[in-house]
Amino acid sequence: MTHWDERYRSTAPEERSWTEDEPLESLALLDALGLEPDAGVVDVGGGASRLVDALLARGFVDLTVLDVAASALAEARDRIGEPGPAARVEWVVADVTTWSPTRTYGVWHDRAVFHFLTEPSSREDYVRVLLRATDVGSVAVLATFAPDGPQTCSGLPVERYDAEALAAAIGPRFALVRAERVVHTTPWGSTQPFTWVVLQRVD
Ligand SMILES: C[S@@+](CC[C@H](N)C(=O)[O-])C[C@H]1O[C@@H](n2cnc3c(N)ncnc32)[C@H](O)[C@@H]1O
Repeated sequence: MTHWDERYRSTAPEERSWTEDEPLESLALLDALGLEPDAGVVDVGGGASRLVDALLARGFVDLTVLDVAASALAEARDRIGEPGPAARVEWVVADVTTWSPTRTYGVWHDRAVFHFLTEPSSREDYVRVLLRATDVGSVAVLATFAPDGPQTCSGLPVERYDAEALAAAIGPRFALVRAERVVHTTPWGSTQPFTWVVLQRVD
């Protein structure tokens, strides 16, 4: 069983630092893009996030949630209800760095996943998959810990980024169109500064 599978199985949402009652920054950035409801959105490392619930409620019809932890996706599916709305979502159990997407998406969303890739080769694999999963014009919304954020998450080391470094890590085929610093408050009240970027594929 992976670290992440075990983590989701053995904890309640309020025991996980990354839990948000509402994914407010994700929604603010996605709303600002003025997407059509049929925009294809993939939430990479989406875990048991409530982003998919919120996008379903907004009428989005082409949603994919990918995570390495099957237990995380099972938690989200059970919460949303299956049969029912969860049946309208594509759920993919995969490691994002080795995933073979069979289609492209208008939006790639990643909150607190890329920062776990501490090896350059893993980051190269991630960008290779990102390029296979997007077209010119597609948008990538990414969030990592900021330079003054925690050095670990869920007991694992992370890389911390400011907006320019995060855009540079993704590479020149994406242009930085928006950057935010947002302080996340964990369920037990501690704070974690995040760097958020909106990148648009230009090549
Ligand atoms: C800090 S949690 C964030 C979860 C979710 N994005 C959110 O905002 O609630 C990191 C997530 O990334 C997933 N994850 C970690 N490494 C991964 C990888 N290589 N491929 C896919 N998912 C991964 C974990 O299972 C976990 O759900």
